[in-house]
Amino acid sequence: MADPVAAARPRSTVVLAPLAGNTSAYAGLTYPRLAPCLGALALPWLAVGATLAGVPVGLALGTLGNDGEALLLSVVVTPALRRQGFGRRLLAAFAEAPAAAGAHRAAAAYSSRLPAGDAAALVAAATAAGWGPPELRELICFSEAGPMVEAVARWPAVSGRLRDAEGVSFAPWRPLDAADHAAIAAMAGGEGYVPHMHPDWSMAAPLPECSVAVRRGGALVGWVMAEQAAGVPLPGYRDRPAVTYRSAYLRPDLWHTGALVGAYWHAFDRQAALLGPQSIAIYHTCLPRMMAMVRRRFGPLHLKVDEAWELRITFRTLQK
Ligand SMILES: CC(C)(COP(=O)(O)OP(=O)(O)OC[C@H]1O[C@@H](n2cnc3c(N)ncnc32)[C@H](O)[C@@H]1OP(=O)(O)O)[C@@H](O)C(=O)NCCC(=O)NCCS
Repeated sequence: MADPVAAARPRSTVVLAPLAGNTSAYAGLTYPRLAPCLGALALPWLAVGATLAGVPVGLALGTLGNDGEALLLSVVVTPALRRQGFGRRLLAAFAEAPAAAGAHRAAAAYSSRLPAGDAAALVAAATAAGWGPPELRELICFSEAGPMVEAVARWPAVSGRLRDAEGVSFAPWRPLDAADHAAIAAMAGGEGYVPHMHPDWSMAAPLPECSVAVRRGGALVGWVMAEQAAGVPLPGYRDRPAVTYRSAYLRPDLWHTGALVGAYWHAFDRQAALLGPQSIAIYHTCLPRMMAMVRRRFGPLHLKVDEAWELRITFRTLQK
């Protein structure tokens, strides 16, 4: 069958336009998990499509948040038309769509799991379209639980503080009471707190057995929250039981006390007891200081580390 893109190229130009309504024809130009939104595309979804002679050849797809920030979730140019500037044009046009809808800025997240060529193309295309340089936002680390427990226990600065040091306890997780909710609300306004540190953040299958409440004088001052992992995306480890630690926090006045590492130690120790020392712990860390510590201290124990990167643009840049 003739390639419709190749057939149309000599007499047509690529046209970019914001999309709405039934845009299912673009389904092949995004991730399968995002494609269902194309059936009836409307806010908060935002999309810019590229067509060649009416045939979809590119798509930038994202959402508009209540905070005035748009999030680009995917950008794809059909392989036959790559490296001709259409990625750059889609990224520039995507930034105009939320600006027209009243947003102030846009962000695009991507992972080191992306093939290196695609990541380089995404960054080059975004930079050429006026987006800022990529910033490392998060590490997603994969380790066996048992070796992590042993490594922390061998770490002199922390090992003496793992059991109720300085009035800090690492209690089993229990449902939050009114005092806990008040403590969380106070911490949420503090330094270094981002929404995905909240104990309920995106927890599809919470695992209280491996979650830890850090308490001081009974008051909640931090936590490490566990949930059952859907699977281990690592060849040779896919059949291992696994726990994801997606959300963790410690009140800033307790930073540099080893209490957050202590909380993780208790969580990993409980995981090793529940699911075995060879079960996989998947943990996320986003503060620059914690990312550096995790790499320095536990680097050799990681089976894999995924990096989550972010590109950003504020729309003032465009309006100059
Ligand atoms: C990312 C993507 C949309 C870029 O589209 P594109 O139309 O090829 O991008 P452009 O032609 O605008 O390229 C912009 C820049 O990237 C560079 N580039 C393109 N492909 C590249 C590659 N494989 N390696 C390195 N640089 C590359 C181009 O040279 C150009 O830079 P320049 O203007 O300085 O020469 C496209 O590669 C794609 O669809 N990839 C698969 C999907 C994907 O991974 N999307 C990102 C995550 S959702």
